[in-house]
Amino acid sequence: MAEFTLPKNSKVQKGKAHTATSSGNMRSFKVYRYDPDSGENPRYDTFEVDTDNCGPMVLDALIKMKAEQDSSLTFRRSCREGICGSCAMNINGKNGLACTTAVEDCKGAVTITPLPHMEVVKDLVPDLSHFYAQYASIKPWLQTVTPTPSGKERLQSPADRAKLDGLYECILCACCSTSCPSYWWNSDKFLGPAILLQAYRWLADSRDEMTGERLDDLEDPFRLYRCHTIMNCSNACPKGLNPAKAIAETKKMVAERQI
Ligand code: SF4
Ligand code: F3S
Ligand code: FES
Repeated sequence: MAEFTLPKNSKVQKGKAHTATSSGNMRSFKVYRYDPDSGENPRYDTFEVDTDNCGPMVLDALIKMKAEQDSSLTFRRSCREGICGSCAMNINGKNGLACTTAVEDCKGAVTITPLPHMEVVKDLVPDLSHFYAQYASIKPWLQTVTPTPSGKERLQSPADRAKLDGLYECILCACCSTSCPSYWWNSDKFLGPAILLQAYRWLADSRDEMTGERLDDLEDPFRLYRCHTIMNCSNACPKGLNPAKAIAETKKMVAERQI
């Protein structure tokens, strides 16, 4: 796997050490800190956390650091059960969800940085504005031209519904896109694996009637074809999804319609 790079605005300077008073099962966390309002370069702060008095996940440790040692520590979280995608970050070199990554599965001092190669808003919070704009660009909703049959819902066979498995579960955490070197270098034009998986979710939906238009929109040297099958995306997905496969299926649909 390619080495992860730090966020774009990184020039790390010497950080602060925070120590807890308890003498339980102590673990060290090296956490990326950046406050654009301070005018200072980013730094790593070290926190010592008593994991005997803390929930088991990396998110629990972050919440404890913020509550007990430094209230300015900033990170996103909401559901704390792998559903909302907001706690995505890089933990010991691997993108993942802080709320589903157990501290005991992390070796040594746990290094936590924001998702790689994104602009940083503050500390562990990446700026996802462009990512969400790319998501909006694929029109992620059911598009039809024919009237709804008998004014009722559009039905789908169990077999057609099954084609959405492995796609609808995506929580848009961006772990895959921010692990993709092609997205690091070309995110201005390449949609990246998360958005391409979402695009394929609508291509694969038997009820959608805009397949041709959707493929027209993707058939572009950058938007789709900057994927070079590097596969970091599928390794990174904390939900066990396979964006690389969705991209391959999309390329196949584009090729097949040219025959
Ligand atoms: Fe996150 Fe996986 Fe969706 Fe990518 S495919 S955004 S890693 S849930
Ligand atoms: Fe990137 Fe995944 Fe393609 S890592 S290059 S999107 S297979
Ligand atoms: Fe929602 Fe982690 S807090 S996925």
